[in-house]
Amino acid sequence: MLRTNTCGELRLTNVSEEVVLIGWMQRMRDKGKLIWIDLRDRYGITQLMLEEGKTSQQVIETARTLGREFVIQVKGTVIERESKNPNNPTGEIEIEVSDLIVINSSKLPPFTIEDESDGGDELRMKYRFLDLRRNPVKNNILLRHRVNMEVRKYLDSKGFIDIETPFLVNSTPEGARDFVVPSRMNPGEFYALPQSPQTLKQLLMVAGFDRYFQIVKCFRDEDLRADRQPEFTQIDCEMSFIEQEDILELFEGMANHLFKTIKGVEFGQWQRMTWADAMKYYGSDKPDLRFGMRFVELTELVQNKGFKVFDEAELVVGICVEGCAEYSRKQTDELTEFVKRPQVGAGGLVWVKYNTDGTLKSSVDKFYSPEDLQQWVEKFGAKKGDLMLILSGKTLKTRKALSELRLELGKRLGLRQPFDYKPLWVIDFPLLEWDEETQRFYAMHHPFTSPKLEDVDMLETNPGAVRANAYDMVVNGVEIGGGSIRIHDRALQLRMFKALGFTPEKAQEQFGFLMNAFEFGAPPHGGLALGFDRLNAMFGGQDSIRDFIAFPKNNSGRDVMLDAPSLLQKEQLDELNIALKNIEKQ
Ligand code: AMO
Repeated sequence: MLRTNTCGELRLTNVSEEVVLIGWMQRMRDKGKLIWIDLRDRYGITQLMLEEGKTSQQVIETARTLGREFVIQVKGTVIERESKNPNNPTGEIEIEVSDLIVINSSKLPPFTIEDESDGGDELRMKYRFLDLRRNPVKNNILLRHRVNMEVRKYLDSKGFIDIETPFLVNSTPEGARDFVVPSRMNPGEFYALPQSPQTLKQLLMVAGFDRYFQIVKCFRDEDLRADRQPEFTQIDCEMSFIEQEDILELFEGMANHLFKTIKGVEFGQWQRMTWADAMKYYGSDKPDLRFGMRFVELTELVQNKGFKVFDEAELVVGICVEGCAEYSRKQTDELTEFVKRPQVGAGGLVWVKYNTDGTLKSSVDKFYSPEDLQQWVEKFGAKKGDLMLILSGKTLKTRKALSELRLELGKRLGLRQPFDYKPLWVIDFPLLEWDEETQRFYAMHHPFTSPKLEDVDMLETNPGAVRANAYDMVVNGVEIGGGSIRIHDRALQLRMFKALGFTPEKAQEQFGFLMNAFEFGAPPHGGLALGFDRLNAMFGGQDSIRDFIAFPKNNSGRDVMLDAPSLLQKEQLDELNIALKNIEKQ
């Protein structure tokens, strides 16, 4: 038997027991007469104690040869500790060691295996197996496992069945580039890795499985950000014979179950907001509702007073920041700099301070009288001591810029606490989105999304105005998931492809398999997919999903531990019929 107990298990009730433990040597404190060792495994840390005179000299000598991360096995007796450590569950006991064996030595790790490591990002990624020994990363992976199990439990209890779909498929458009795999047996042809199992899960509905789910890898060759990885995991679901309301209720139920079992928080009915309202009041299709600062539109109120910037603007819109009227010139200048950054893109910022003494001071006092400003105060519902911040310009651009400013202020004022959860459904997304560059419509969600029946007639006459039966699950400003009711009628699907600029031939060529299936009794169906990595990061209170994935890629899409991607041997390329231009490895 290599161990009788784990390193996280022993308590005062085990005192006097003879135990065998095995694990990694995290730290040693050698005080001459006494030696303490922290022994670590997945379950925790147990303190070992060796005492000159009591412990055999040979064991003490072996202990003194140990280095960090050596794997050792010890035999000893559980005793009560003199100075207890309330921060460690095993902190009331220690092991009086009688035997110690070195099972394996270790090179000096390139960074400290502690909660706060001294290792930089790249180094931690290169030695990810060591990084995963650290509590913060390890606990994220354990959390992920628990969430995974709870998801399965919930969905199984609701009649969903787990069906695997293939990874070697054809390209399905979700808006990103595909990762492709050359086919040796079909020279010149390629598989694509699925961006999601969208069409396959729809075919499973045509097949009659009624309720499907899969916790599944998806692959998208897109620019990476903190909440995006090239391969990521979805909780992918689809249901038949349902309406939008059924889906929202079921998955609100699932999220509530997870919040309750994982985080111990409970919500009542979730808030719902139309996409149009989300854009109008928060400038974003994923509003962060942990704090207020709802947008207030002032366009008509502020025009025709001689201030050209406002007069020429399509939209003048602002937020009221509670209690910030005392902001200094330096602070308002800083906010102006913030909105002028290219990523935010505003031309400038107008501020109005409603001072605690009731006076008003603004950056546009030249154009507006105190009486004018008083009207603004009323429109904002501002209180004495509040600061109003106003942007103007083209509608969409100005809303997006104000959304950035709102989020920035929320952050600066500490209003975006990670464990203060505010879940929301954003509903009634537009079906289509116009793209200026290519001068055509794109599906806002994906081409299989059903228009709202009452809007279908506009598909040919005013496509941009058609709303979809599509919804996003948003928590704290993060898009956790999205889905839609699907088209299940071949003729409507063809009209949708037409609106997207496909000829009937092109639609048949790319999506014939789906449209043909629709001719064999396709049931009404719909579903959604949640970003599993994002869900875990949210439970863990972090913005970045990277440390919730055991082996993630870096920002250039590389696995620095495996050194992937890499070049192939010429023979392998020949076999795949791939001729490469001379590419120098960077
Ligand atoms: P969508 O494209 O909205 O929908 O994806 C669903 C959810 O997956 C997560 N996600 C990502 N997470 C990490 N890295 C990425 N690169 C990444 N891309 C997306 C997000 C997102 O909300 N087939 C549809 C779902 C459906 O209609 O049923 C789909 O894939 O949290």
